[in-house]
Amino acid sequence: MLSRLRDIVGDQHVLTDPDQTAGYLTDWTGRFTGVASAVVRPRTTAEVAAVMSLCAAECVPVCVQGGNTGLVGGSIPPSGPDVGAERGAAGPLLLSTTRMTDIGEVDTIGRCVGVQAGVTVEAVDAAAAAAGLAFGVDLAARASATAGGVVATNAGGIRMIRHGNTRAQILGIEAVLADGRILRRWSSLVKDNVGYDLPGLLAGSEGTLAVITGVLFRLVPALRETIVAVAGFDWVSDAIALIGTATDRGLTVEAAEIMTEAGVDLVHSHGHRRPLATPAPYLVLVEVSGTGDVEQAVVDLLAAAGIADAVLEPGPARALWSIRESHTESIARSTATPVVKLDVSVPIRALPQAFDDLSALAADDARPCRPILFGHVGDGNIHVNLLDVAEDDTRALTEKVFAIVTAHGGSISAEHGIGRAKTDWTHLGRSDVDLAVMRSVKDTFDPNGLLNPGVIFG
Ligand code: FAD
Ligand code: MLT
Ligand code: ZN
Repeated sequence: MLSRLRDIVGDQHVLTDPDQTAGYLTDWTGRFTGVASAVVRPRTTAEVAAVMSLCAAECVPVCVQGGNTGLVGGSIPPSGPDVGAERGAAGPLLLSTTRMTDIGEVDTIGRCVGVQAGVTVEAVDAAAAAAGLAFGVDLAARASATAGGVVATNAGGIRMIRHGNTRAQILGIEAVLADGRILRRWSSLVKDNVGYDLPGLLAGSEGTLAVITGVLFRLVPALRETIVAVAGFDWVSDAIALIGTATDRGLTVEAAEIMTEAGVDLVHSHGHRRPLATPAPYLVLVEVSGTGDVEQAVVDLLAAAGIADAVLEPGPARALWSIRESHTESIARSTATPVVKLDVSVPIRALPQAFDDLSALAADDARPCRPILFGHVGDGNIHVNLLDVAEDDTRALTEKVFAIVTAHGGSISAEHGIGRAKTDWTHLGRSDVDLAVMRSVKDTFDPNGLLNPGVIFG
């Protein structure tokens, strides 16, 4: 098997030495570590197709990995006994797309660009910017997260409030199926309504339906001049009202993020300046664009909202943004045990109560934890990070969070997917019929269960 893989991708792109493979086999949070018989790094769709045909013939499971910044364990192979061993297969392969980095020419008329799966979000945006455009998806992991990864997780990110999630940016897709066939639907047509939306189906499939090898992304106008403001609020409801008022006043909300005093304190302890002199329970970062004097419009907006203390800077305001974007790293470095990361969403109207209910977890003496809440407030998306949780309390606290979220009619996964982390709770947001139909889709695409076994379906 290994020599045939080397014939396909080249000797130096089949890794078996543990020193070389270790970085691929543990996820970004450190909570998931898996086992693989080899890490394979194809360069082209044809090589991926040859690898998948071989794995299909030998019944070898394949875990697909892009930038390995996923936060639900989906980019790591199973950790248990070699999956597939009962079929006499070798242990899973890890297929890394990181060598697949070709970027096509930007179509400035059609406003789109075709990229290979391993191209990072940052590189897609840089190619767009060189042509006076921008990529509609942005997230703090932009330097590592890949085109294939953001499609496979249907990533949200900080621009979702303005441009929608990753699925909304897809015009076309190229993918290799579990049997090695190549599916290619690649057209810059704005309207093409022939049959099922297969590209849309692969968005959010988390490596369980196909190996995405290329994406044709729509591009959006480059960000005009913006104003970035951070303001302190006593109530989440006032923060939500501010976003609505901004829109009503003709401003375009390019981003709207919420943080808490505890999160800003944590980030401050890791070297980032506090944005405001006056402490506040909640801090909201908004980035807005518009016509006329946007800065004055934002000052008026904040004054009308009765905001006592705020800081405004012309975009990109990287120092202000870094306070929000360094939450993930600061949290990872501050917790005594692997952080319990629960990316959830609730209806916007339920956000104030959900924040109160989730913050109250800190008062649960039976299961001590340090909740740090932040997220994309305009999407109703709260990133619930529970620090210093005893391993024995992880499941009970996870179920408490999910009970709060579902009681508010929310979702147990807002943008990170299910991965391996949340497979026990997919019934909380999906009916038996829904789960059965998704299972039948999986069985149709991957009848032998070779692609990312254990992800989404457990
Ligand atoms: P990986 O982690 O390598 O894989 C993720 C999943 O996609 C796995 O199931 C994997 O099997 C599958 N996959 C990867 N490539 C392919 C492919 N070519 N074909 C088929 N399946 C594939 N996420 C958000 O949504 N919004 C955020 O704001 C955000 N911010 C983040 C900030 C930080 C600091 C970090 C560390 C992560 C953040 N994330 C965020 C999570 C993560 O960046 C996203 O889930 C991202 O989409 C993962 O991309 P990746 O290339 O790293 O994928
Ligand atoms: C973010 O918005 O920063 C990410 O989704 C990461 C996280 O949840 O930690
Ligand atoms: Zn996020």
